[in-house]
Amino acid sequence: MLSRQNKSILDLHTLEKNKIDHFFSLADKFTSIQSGAATPFDYKLLNFNGLGEIGALLFFEASTRTRMSFETACARLGIQPVRLDTSGGTSLEKGETLEDTILNVDAMKPSFLIIRCGDDLDLEALSKKVQSPIINAGWGKRGHPSQALLDAYTIRKSFGTCENQRLLIVGDVRHSRVASSHFELAKKLGYEVALCGPEEFLGETSGYQIFSSLQEGFEWATVAMALRVQLERHKNHYSLDDYRNKYGFTEKNLAHLSPKALIMHPGPINQGLEMDSQVLLDPRCRVLEQVSNGVVIRQSLIYVTMSEDQ
Ligand code: CP
Repeated sequence: MLSRQNKSILDLHTLEKNKIDHFFSLADKFTSIQSGAATPFDYKLLNFNGLGEIGALLFFEASTRTRMSFETACARLGIQPVRLDTSGGTSLEKGETLEDTILNVDAMKPSFLIIRCGDDLDLEALSKKVQSPIINAGWGKRGHPSQALLDAYTIRKSFGTCENQRLLIVGDVRHSRVASSHFELAKKLGYEVALCGPEEFLGETSGYQIFSSLQEGFEWATVAMALRVQLERHKNHYSLDDYRNKYGFTEKNLAHLSPKALIMHPGPINQGLEMDSQVLLDPRCRVLEQVSNGVVIRQSLIYVTMSEDQ
């Protein structure tokens, strides 16, 4: 049996394929329970009781989806989420370090710590200093495991499997932790990843197929994922009109994507830049389904982290 500390989920390349399959199978069960089609009793999930358990959410960077999704997942499991409001009023303002903040919250003995942070924190090293397992909720450019898992779960729900699917990631790959996690997850689940975008947006891409034209990329893809252009991290300002015309998910550009393909975006979206607002109404678009699936995937991550026999 693993100690809870060893149950940290920091990346995807160290996760076994059978564990990922287990997360997906649990997510299916939580979806059925949520819809009323089944009860926890049907799935023998009753050995888990979150009552009286606390989950600590420490978000040192902005978030809407991931934070609310983990909070909702906790609530659905009967776990009380407690959240440090890092926008103001904490001792970070008095000079306390991020690491010391985390060690102090850990000393309150939550069942787990859910952390979003920049590359300046070393979650790997920190996970060896704390008692509670850490779940990575977006760590600098390193990775965003729960996002890639919910994306893959969404693909699996549409196609029955991720195997042999062709995921085209378009845009700001250089700054994307979501892309980093897909590079890891694709190897586990057997889907291909190719990239498309202006050269200065792509960064280190060795080993990946690059499409210089979006049309060719769309013709190849079974899943097309736009990334947010992280304007705040760009030193040189690429023409945004040019970006939208060449790489934007517009009705015109999407005419080259198969009617059976999926359109995805991890959010938040710069509407009118990497994706036009009317694309959200395209029957191929899975953006809000990704968000719904995010809750059940995060329930699964928390459930496994807290289950003594996993
Ligand atoms: N996809 C994602 O991580 O969104 P948030 O930054 O809103 O959590």
